[in-house]
Amino acid sequence: MTAKLEIRPVADADMAAIQTIYAHHVLHGLASWELAPPDLAELIARRDSVLQAGYPYVVAISEGRLAGYAHAGPYRYRPAYRFTVENTIYLHPDQQGKNIARPLLQRVIDDCAVRGYRQMIAVIGDSGNHASIRFHEKMGFHHAGLIEGIGWKAERWLDSVMMQLSLGPGNSKPPQAPA
Ligand SMILES: CC(C)(COP(=O)(O)OP(=O)(O)OC[C@H]1O[C@@H](n2cnc3c(N)ncnc32)[C@H](O)[C@@H]1OP(=O)(O)O)[C@@H](O)C(=O)NCCC(=O)NCCS
Repeated sequence: MTAKLEIRPVADADMAAIQTIYAHHVLHGLASWELAPPDLAELIARRDSVLQAGYPYVVAISEGRLAGYAHAGPYRYRPAYRFTVENTIYLHPDQQGKNIARPLLQRVIDDCAVRGYRQMIAVIGDSGNHASIRFHEKMGFHHAGLIEGIGWKAERWLDSVMMQLSLGPGNSKPPQAPA
């Protein structure tokens, strides 16, 4: 499986498959707190904004199919947060549990470290998302907090699980400007 896995930057032709994957998780999961799936044009606009801001956006191709995607983006917009990113990762539901998520997110982690970012934050919905929490633990993230009951979706209150990974020297040295 891993031998046939390619991790590469996103291309225009990937966006329809990305929209299908994301729509599934919006409709059937609690990781995304959107209530209606955005259309293709909206996801293309969001990708363009991620890339124009200088964050990595990559896809995993397994046996010729787009198995998942991951990217970074701003954690919050006030400028003191500018060395901190938030990560996003979604796999096709048939491709979970196949060791695809690890190399996919690792590429985003490595790209962010090279670009000078110092912290990566995972904002996980919700406390019941054991696959995501366990996955981020395996990737080296530590638990950084729990915000209880701040979302409402699927007729229930949702928690935000905050997890954090230091990048490069983390907070042990002052930052240098991202490339
Ligand atoms: C989160 C995600 C990217 C992880 O990818 P994955 O391929 O499932 O990752 P892994 O195979 O490494 O599995 C992660 C761990 O969760 C465990 N796990 C999976 N489903 C689980 C469940 N329902 N309950 C408990 N643990 C579960 C796995 O056993 C594994 O732990 P282990 O290695 O100790 O056995 C993927 O599940 C996904 O796309 N989920 C939906 C969207 C999402 O939640 N994205 C993250 C947004 S922050």
